[in-house]
Formats: sequence, structure tokens, C-alpha cells
Amino acid sequence: MLLLGIETTCDETSAAVIERDSNGNGTIRSNIVLSQLEEHKPFGGVVPEIAARAHVQVLDEVIRTAMNEAKIDYAALDGIAASAGPGLIGGVIVGLTTAKAISLALQKPLIAVNHLEAHALTARLTHKLDFPYLLLLVSGGHTQLVFVEDVGTYTRIGTTRDDAIGEAFDKTAKLLGLPYPGGPAVERCAQGGNPQRFPLPRPMLGRPEPDFSLSGLKTAIRIEAEKVAPISRQDIADLCASFQAAVTDVIADRVQTAVQILREEGVQPNALVVAGGVAANHAIRNVMEELAISLRLPLVIPPPELCTDNGAMIAWAGLERLVRNMTDPLDIKPRARWPLDA
Ligand code: KG4
Ligand code: ZN
Repeated sequence: MLLLGIETTCDETSAAVIERDSNGNGTIRSNIVLSQLEEHKPFGGVVPEIAARAHVQVLDEVIRTAMNEAKIDYAALDGIAASAGPGLIGGVIVGLTTAKAISLALQKPLIAVNHLEAHALTARLTHKLDFPYLLLLVSGGHTQLVFVEDVGTYTRIGTTRDDAIGEAFDKTAKLLGLPYPGGPAVERCAQGGNPQRFPLPRPMLGRPEPDFSLSGLKTAIRIEAEKVAPISRQDIADLCASFQAAVTDVIADRVQTAVQILREEGVQPNALVVAGGVAANHAIRNVMEELAISLRLPLVIPPPELCTDNGAMIAWAGLERLVRNMTDPLDIKPRARWPLDA
């Protein structure tokens, strides 16, 4: 089976073609990702209106390139998948409407994919992972612990009460005068820093419910930065390292709590999976590796280019649904909000 997948929920315009064989093995035939990073950089964050317009400008060319690179004709497709949310609504409308038009013209099934579901299922494309597993989804917009039982069966067992982890990285970077996107910049600076110098809080540590809270951490950083003003390069490095140490401590504790809860309920996940743009962070990867060993669970992290937003994950999630006859009508609505377990 061959599927075209379209992703436009945030600041990446992406289209991909994936092939799935009868044993459930997926092959990426193409995965074209065009980032709008440069358009948003002057504003220090994603501007929804600019994002929507940029998707309109490039999506047809991105799709054409994905089809050409996959070396297939539209007639060979078994369907078209697009993110139908959650995300910035202007962009979601662009991608979903385009997918509907192609579906109508070709008379092939449409699959409206939940963007979070696509992140959640990517590990099955890259590692052929069996259900069930525990997913830590960490991106600029989301921080969730999700128990993934089957296609369409997700239980959110933890979430953030305020900022997403990626957002906390981005805000920390902005506060310290580092470039956007903040995650990679904070990670780079932290390499030369002392993680013990600033005693930052570990919000939610030890709490019985595996939720996150990141906004207090951001405030604590601002206070520490003001205390040492005028801030030096070493101060910035030490603050970045201290921030990363606090975040990794919190992640380890929250994930461990989630696994404990599942085990107390008699549920045994097959693996720990990390997905989303923040999964690129090496300190977070390291702490998850240690945790996985101590919990005696395999750790699965898709390659960075499949952790950040991409069309391949949408095409793959679409295939997972198509083989289960889970297709959608042409009047399905785009959704700015769309919780995984709703
Ligand atoms: O999944 P993603 O590409 O987009 C969505 O938010 O959906 O994630 C982007 C987020 C940004 O907040 C960015 O700062 C963060 O992932 N990020 C990182 C790293 N690389 C990207 N955060 C920490 N360390 C990194 N190396
Ligand atoms: Zn995403």
C-alpha cells in the first residue's frame, strides 16, 4: 500500500510517500520537509498568520517533489493522509483542504490524522515496535505521557499544567538572549556550563500524578539571571546547564512515576518511547537511557528527522488507519484542539 502524507500544523510544510508491505513493514519512499524557520526567526517564535501563508505558497511544490522523489504516479496511491489537528488552524486548513481535493480528484480514501497520534506511532515505522508502550511526547507545543495500546486507543496519563518542555527551552533561550529555536541553542550553551551552580526548582518532583509544570522554572531562571546582572557568557552557560539538569531530573521522575502507575495496574509496557522535537536533546536522551535500564525496558527514540514534524509520520499513521478501514469523510473538520484520548 502506498500513501501520501501531508503535514502543516506548525512551521514545517511537509509531504511524504510511504509504502507498507503485507507484514506491516514501512518504507519511506520520500519525505520532503520545508522549514519556515527563517520566516519566523525575526519574531522569536512561530507567527500563525505567516505560517499559514507560507504553507499555501509552497505546499503544491512540496507534494510534487515528494511524488517525484518516490517515483510514483498519483494513480498508484491507495489514499491521502493529512494532519487534521491539533495545531495552528490556518496551517491545518491548508493541508487538510489540499488532501481533500486530491482525494476527491483521485476518488481515493482520505485519512484525517491526529498529529499527536502520528508522533505516537512513528516508533512502529522506525522500530517495528509492538503495542503497548509508554510514550513521552516532548515538543514545542506538547508535553505528554501517553500509554499507547493500539491504533486509536491512547490513554494520556500525564501532561503539562502550563508550558510545554520545548516552550520552556525556547523561553529560557529568549530570556538569555540566545537565538530561536531555543532548544538547540540552550543545549549548545549548556555544554560549557556548571549544572550545579544555580539551585533551580524541580517542579512536580515526587508528586503521585505524573504531570509536569515548567513555568516556575522559567521564572526562577529570570530571577537568577537578574541576580548576576550584567550577565556574562559563563553565567549564561551555567544557567543553561542548570536548567537542563532541572528538566532532566523532572523528566526522569515523571516517567518513572508513570511506569510505576502502569505496573501497579498490572500493565506492562513493551518499551519506553520518546518523540517530538525535544527528543533531539542529548541530556534528555542520556537520562532516558539510564532510566530505561533501571526500569528494565527497551528505549526507542526515532531518528531526529522523524522526531520533529514531518510528512512521513502522517503517511505512516494514515497507513495504520487505512489497513484497519479507519478512513474519513470529505466533510471532516480541521481542529485546533484535539486531545489524543478524546
Ligand atoms: O516537534 P517540534 O519540531 O515542533 C513542535 O513543537 O511540534 O519541536 C520543536 C521544539 C522547539 O521548542 C525546540 O526548541 C525543541 O523542540 N528542540 C529542542 C532541541 N531541538 C529542538 N529542545 C531541546 N534540545 C534540543 N536539542
Ligand atoms: Zn509535532
